Amino acid sequence: MELLRVQHLCKSYGEGEAKIDALRDISFSVQKGEFVAIVGPSGSGKSTLLHILGGVDSPTSGKVYVDGTDVYGLNETALAVFRRRQIGLIYQFYNLIPVLNVQENLTLPLLLDDRKVDNGQLNRLVHTLGLADRLKHLPNQLSGGQQQRVSIGRALIASPALVLADEPTGNLDSKNSGEIIALLKEFHQNLNQTLIIITHDERIALQADRIIAIEDGAIARDEVIRP
Ligand SMILES: Nc1ncnc2c1ncn2[C@@H]1O[C@H](COP(=O)(O)OP(=O)(O)OP(=O)(O)O)[C@@H](O)[C@H]1O
Ligand SMILES: [Mg+2]
Repeated sequence: MELLRVQHLCKSYGEGEAKIDALRDISFSVQKGEFVAIVGPSGSGKSTLLHILGGVDSPTSGKVYVDGTDVYGLNETALAVFRRRQIGLIYQFYNLIPVLNVQENLTLPLLLDDRKVDNGQLNRLVHTLGLADRLKHLPNQLSGGQQQRVSIGRALIASPALVLADEPTGNLDSKNSGEIIALLKEFHQNLNQTLIIITHDERIALQADRIIAIEDGAIARDEVIRP
C-alpha cells in the first residue's frame, strides 16, 4: 500500500537574481512500512524536501499526498491537525521545549490535540526509550542522547503514519548514534511505521530498505537495497 506520493515537487526561494531552485521536479512514492534513507551533499535540498513532506514548509508547485490526503489542499487548521496526527518530526538539535520536563515534552502533541494520555502506552514508551528515571528532568539536565530519545518519543507518541528525521544522529557520538538508530528501527518494525531519515552517515543509509540520493534539488539515484 502506498503511504506517500510526491508529484513534480518544486521549491524556489527568493526572486530575480537571488532566486534559488532548492527542489526541481521531484517525484517518488513510498510504501507503508518502508524505511527510506535520503542522502546527498550539503545544500542539495534534503531538509527542504523533508519539511515539505511534513507539512511545515509549502512547495512552490507540485503535490504531496500522505495516506491519500492532498496535504497542500488542506486549509491551515486542517493542515495543523494533519501535522499533529500523521507526522512525527525529529531534528538534529532535538527542538525540545526548555521549560517543560521530559514527561511534559513527551505528551505535548497529545495535549495540543485535546487527547488523553494513555498511561500504559506512556509507560511502555518511556521504558523503551530508557527514560523512566528522567521524567521530571528538564531538557538541559539531559545528555544529548537522552534529549534525542525524548524527541523521538514526542514524535511517536501520537502514532503518526509517517516519521521524518533530519540527521537525527548528526549531533551525537557513535555509541549514542547507534542507539538512536536502533530505537528508530525498533519502532519502525514493531509499529509498521513509514520512516524517512536524512543522513550523511553511509552506515545508517545502508540499514534502510531504500536510498534516495538528492543532488542539486533533483533525484540523482533511487535504489532499493532490501526488497
Ligand atoms: N529559507 C530559505 N531561504 C532561502 N534559501 C534557502 C532557505 N532554506 C534553504 N535554502 C536554500 O535551499 C537549498 C537547499 O537547502 P537545504 O537546507 O534543503 O539543504 P540540505 O540538503 O538539507 O543541506 P545540509 O546537508 O547542509 O543540511 C540551499 O541552497 C539553501 O541555501
Ligand atoms: Mg539539511
